[in-house]
Amino acid sequence: MLSSLGGTQRCFWAIVLLALILFLLAGLLHVDVTMFSPLFGDQAEGPPITNVMFLKTHKTASSSVLNMLFRFVETRNLSVALPAGSRVHLGYPWLFLAHYVEGVKQDGAQQRFNVMCNHLRFNLPEVQKVMPNDTFYFSILRNPVFQLESSFIYYKDYVPAFRNAENLDAFLASPLTYYNQSLSLRNAYAKNNMWFDLGYDHNAPAEENYVRARLAEVERRFQLVLMAEYFDESMVLLRRRLRWRLDDVVSFRLNARSQRSVTSLTPEGQERAKRWCALDWRLYQHFNRTFWAQVHAELSPLRLRVEVARLRARRRELMALCLQDGGPKDKKQITDLHLRPYQSGKADILGYNLRQGLDNQTLQVCQRMVTPELQYMARLYAQRFPEKPPKDISFLEA
Ligand SMILES: *[C@@H]1O[C@H](CO)[C@@H](O)[C@H](O)[C@H]1NC(C)=O
Ligand SMILES: *[C@@H]1O[C@H](CO)[C@@H](O)[C@H](O)[C@H]1NC(C)=O
Ligand SMILES: *[C@@H]1O[C@H](CO)[C@@H](O)[C@H](O)[C@H]1NC(C)=O
Ligand SMILES: *[C@@H]1O[C@H](CO)[C@@H](O)[C@H](O)[C@H]1NC(C)=O
Ligand SMILES: *[C@@H]1O[C@H](CO)[C@@H](O)[C@H](O)[C@H]1NC(C)=O
Repeated sequence: MLSSLGGTQRCFWAIVLLALILFLLAGLLHVDVTMFSPLFGDQAEGPPITNVMFLKTHKTASSSVLNMLFRFVETRNLSVALPAGSRVHLGYPWLFLAHYVEGVKQDGAQQRFNVMCNHLRFNLPEVQKVMPNDTFYFSILRNPVFQLESSFIYYKDYVPAFRNAENLDAFLASPLTYYNQSLSLRNAYAKNNMWFDLGYDHNAPAEENYVRARLAEVERRFQLVLMAEYFDESMVLLRRRLRWRLDDVVSFRLNARSQRSVTSLTPEGQERAKRWCALDWRLYQHFNRTFWAQVHAELSPLRLRVEVARLRARRRELMALCLQDGGPKDKKQITDLHLRPYQSGKADILGYNLRQGLDNQTLQVCQRMVTPELQYMARLYAQRFPEKPPKDISFLEA
């Protein structure tokens, strides 16, 4: 009798203990229960967002984002705000005006577009004339030290401030020798270029109140500011916000340079670049912080790793499927002019050749992923405006 009572008690405590362990385990697991959902499909809450404005900054991996957006537009038959007439961008480096968009009348009722993503200098009231009021605004930034380095190589022959500088270190040692502020527009690439793209004065002194006010303004307008240095994490976050499918945010690196045409700045040069582009440096640091704060608020570290790994795996899969030799090619190796990217300055811009013998459906998917931006823009333009003269991109053949 006594011993059986003791047995019941032991049994009771064992059950309590077991329940406690299960409870704790469940609590622990719960944190990442959501982690498993992407493995079972792409269901997101609500339909995908289709009204999107991407401010395409320069030399920030934005061409890869542009490619995703063009693909999204084409496969879903959405409308996109394309440059009017023979232009290849939306009025850059002038502040954007609505009539830079093909099909927009200067008077009366405006047509609205789903997507806007070509180069422009941001000017909100004019953008709002052509984009719906529920548009999702986003952009991408890159560490200004590397952004400037890329810009220097790419615009070496075009930008007055760069033309006479032997290299970027020489330019940064004495920028005012080369940089003439009154040639502001053509020199936009030479100082605080991202600040300029956002529509602000890139020659303004980095005065605290001014900088803070502008940063707050950008934060209010842009729901998301991505980081080129964390491109894959950026795509994970973007995909969640837009409720798009995985393949919609998988891209190959486009408009990238060969390693040969990438130079490295001395540590001193890097510090000078941060001072010369002080506005961009503040911009970048601020949005690097908000980017990571948003990532951490939405994704556990484990979930982030899982989603980034999934994105990379899919990219590798598509590269193996689509690309000749599985990777990028030098411009001379790209025989198909439709796939050869525009070359500029001292940069050696890489592109891709497609694998031979792809079936039609795969070919179409792959072609879209490797089509450089000018060719893609010209194609969308021809599809949308068959009655207008096509974009003249014959300079690509040179
Ligand atoms: C695509 O959209 C255009 C304009 O909205 C429309 O005229 C056309 O029929 C659509 N095409 C398809 C295949 O849905
Ligand atoms: C947004 O636009 C729609 C249609 O153009 C309009 O009905 C609606 O009132 C607008 N909403 C806001 C908040 O401006
Ligand atoms: C800067 O450019 C302006 C306009 O072209 C020119 O008048 C001026 O002489 C230039 N300044 C210098 C220092 O070269
Ligand atoms: C950007 O943020 C990450 C994560 O907090 C940090 O490791 C990195 O140093 C930051 N980059 C710059 C240039 O501040
Ligand atoms: C593949 O596309 C080509 C040209 O676009 C066409 O002639 C051919 O019939 C297509 N083949 C299949 C199986 O659809």
